[in-house]
Amino acid sequence: MVDTENSYFLKEGTPEETLFIPLLVKAKEYCNKAPLVKDSKAFEISQKIRSDSKRFDGGSMAHVGILTRCQLLDKVVADFIQRNTEGIIINLGVGLDTRFDRFDNGKIKWFDLDLPEVINLRRIFFSENARVKYIGSSVTDLTWADEISVSKTDKLLIIAEGLLMYLTQEQVINVFKYIHECFPAADFYFDVVHSYFTGKAISSQFIWGLDQARDIYGINNNLSLVEHWSIGDFNINRQGFLLRILNLLPATRNRSQILHVTFK
Ligand SMILES: C[S@@+](CC[C@H](N)C(=O)[O-])C[C@H]1O[C@@H](n2cnc3c(N)ncnc32)[C@H](O)[C@@H]1O
Repeated sequence: MVDTENSYFLKEGTPEETLFIPLLVKAKEYCNKAPLVKDSKAFEISQKIRSDSKRFDGGSMAHVGILTRCQLLDKVVADFIQRNTEGIIINLGVGLDTRFDRFDNGKIKWFDLDLPEVINLRRIFFSENARVKYIGSSVTDLTWADEISVSKTDKLLIIAEGLLMYLTQEQVINVFKYIHECFPAADFYFDVVHSYFTGKAISSQFIWGLDQARDIYGINNNLSLVEHWSIGDFNINRQGFLLRILNLLPATRNRSQILHVTFK
């Protein structure tokens, strides 16, 4: 159980609670002399919550992967904003992520979606404004796009970081179909775990995964896989011996990948 100074609770063992994993990883990394991700707000929030840090520190093996995922998506967001200064970004499964605060250029529009309990918690530490709107909804309740108005000429980036592995395959299929219908011109970036890691009792229980990036065509055949990165290929100098060994086998090398897709 985790509570904040405001005595706000998230139910133990729920997907909502997993938001503390990336938060605490980034908070810990902030104290590193050469941080991969420098997130002062994550550190500040971590000081204000009382949490079972052992349960949420992600474990030493997950630590560098979570930071690498964040680093890669940070670069995607920074490049998008540089090319589209008034673009729109949708962050699905936002948790207590601080990316808007770290990249706001004063012009972009941003939508943060997560389950209602998480959005309530988020409001304690962050606020909406004319350009940032929160959507308290499951990504699987296929009405959330009603809250987002996008014109045909708007440039749109959608990210889902650490989200899709908590959905069933059927839910993932429906979410992709919905995104394709509502936002056909979007660039969509998301991470997937290898299916080897689903259904196992690790730091959080993953439900959905892919063996290989190209298997995403089995989820939606109206998409194009533009690129994909294996998290294990980055920040090798921060990976311990065991992770480097895992990099040698296909399933564990692709333990976590980021995919970029567009729609036809
Ligand atoms: C591992 S956390 C990642 C949080 C954030 N993206 C980050 O990287 O810091 C997973 C997030 O997905 C959210 N989530 C899980 N299932 C969801 C659903 N069906 N709809 C919306 N959000 C969901 C959880 O509430 C949690 O905030």
